[in-house]
Amino acid sequence: MALRIGDIAPDFKAKSTEGDIEFHKWINDSWAILFSHPKSFTPVCTTELGYMAGLKNEFDKRNVKIIGLSVDQTDDQLNWLKDIKETQGNAVNYPLICDTEKKVSNLYGMIHPNASDTLTVRTVFVIGPDKKIKLMLSYPASTGRNFEEIIRVVDSLQLTAKHQVATPVNWKNGEDCIIIPAVSDDEAKTKFPKGWKTIKPYLRIIPQPKN
Ligand code: BEZ
Repeated sequence: MALRIGDIAPDFKAKSTEGDIEFHKWINDSWAILFSHPKSFTPVCTTELGYMAGLKNEFDKRNVKIIGLSVDQTDDQLNWLKDIKETQGNAVNYPLICDTEKKVSNLYGMIHPNASDTLTVRTVFVIGPDKKIKLMLSYPASTGRNFEEIIRVVDSLQLTAKHQVATPVNWKNGEDCIIIPAVSDDEAKTKFPKGWKTIKPYLRIIPQPKN
């Protein structure tokens, strides 16, 4: 059955460019981003993997591990990494899963047969320390992703996990948040003693809580 938000991210063992990985053990108590790309030695993927390497510090700050995946052989991936370093100004500093047998791709529904029955589309899974899927995205092979958006979502998810706030349309880190509906006004008085602005009883705005 197709995976959904809230499901446990399936565990697996796989080869990667940094050695064998047992996925849940590798996540440990971090957050994780698993992202697939269609193929080594292709232009859009080259830009994405290089850019993601440049963002590694941002993910580290948020306690998020990153791991890529393609259905290529390890040797191809390792040779391609040299090109990425040469052309994108960043050496890939996270593992890539070598999913030649499509075991992980099939487990995560990364192959969309009506797009291609041999290559993965561009998926992103954000997984929490509880190993549950928090976000799933699928992009076509021809469109590079916006990884800043993924950081924005991680910031929102981590705020929700810690403070029971949600984030409004186009929210950016540092901007006002929303008290989630599950928190009553009485509970909110304890949680947010500095108060909030009620626009409607269901739309209560507060400054972003400090981490
Ligand atoms: C790319 O990464 O450039 C790409 C891969 C597969 C299909 C189209 C583009």
